Amino acid sequence: DFIHELKGLNEIENVLKRQLNLKDVVVTPGNIDEDYIFIKDLGKAAAEFLKKNLRDDLIIAITGGSTVAELANAIESTARYNNITVVPARGGFGRDVEKQANTIAANLAKKLHGNYKLLHIPDNIGKSALDSMLNEPDIKNVIDIIKKADILIYGIGRADEMVKRRNLSDEEISQILNKGAVAEAFGYYFDRNGDIVYVTTSVCLTIQDIEHIPCVMAMAGGSRKAEAILATCKAGHLDVLITDEGAANKMMELL
Ligand code: G3H
Repeated sequence: DFIHELKGLNEIENVLKRQLNLKDVVVTPGNIDEDYIFIKDLGKAAAEFLKKNLRDDLIIAITGGSTVAELANAIESTARYNNITVVPARGGFGRDVEKQANTIAANLAKKLHGNYKLLHIPDNIGKSALDSMLNEPDIKNVIDIIKKADILIYGIGRADEMVKRRNLSDEEISQILNKGAVAEAFGYYFDRNGDIVYVTTSVCLTIQDIEHIPCVMAMAGGSRKAEAILATCKAGHLDVLITDEGAANKMMELL
């Protein structure tokens, strides 16, 4: 549109697309670090992309976070599709309920007139408790669906902020940050080269699983997240990035 053209956002999108080796990049105007209202535009852009990719029998896996929550808020689907299923990409319900993957999956499913499945596994659960939960037929069933996702949508956070939100011990926090973690996405922490430095115990969708998902979309904005976004792009399979001008300009400086 007009603002997009005026600000040269198309050009920035093309540069980022090439440099990050992505199929598509959408840069929305503004910087959410300066005015949080712009988060709504990230939600709308992601909703538009998702709408174009809706079809019968689609399985969508989605993570938590305030950015991804805006997608579910923004989307309005008038077309009806049969048997769309939305699942949380991971357990983890340590955060405000509106930002948890389970809640977002349910909200999105309702908007799409689809079904949803919930996954009740806390973040950083102990290994033996996790193993026995993973043997529960109900949980196994949901994890099987998650692994078959056609579309994965995830948020990206700064490692230094995400460690505080995830109920980690002080020792684990310093261990993660001392290893150079700058980004967190879908339960993985990455350093600036995109190398994995820590994996949250409740992760169900591994980075290897993600390689097999046909369409992977990340959503993150604000200049403060630029380094985290770049690190996550280096880390693994990503097709589409929805970001804002604040993050995009900062990424261009860092590249
Ligand atoms: O893993 C990253 C976070 O889900 C991002 O959360 O969108 O609330 O910043 P946020």
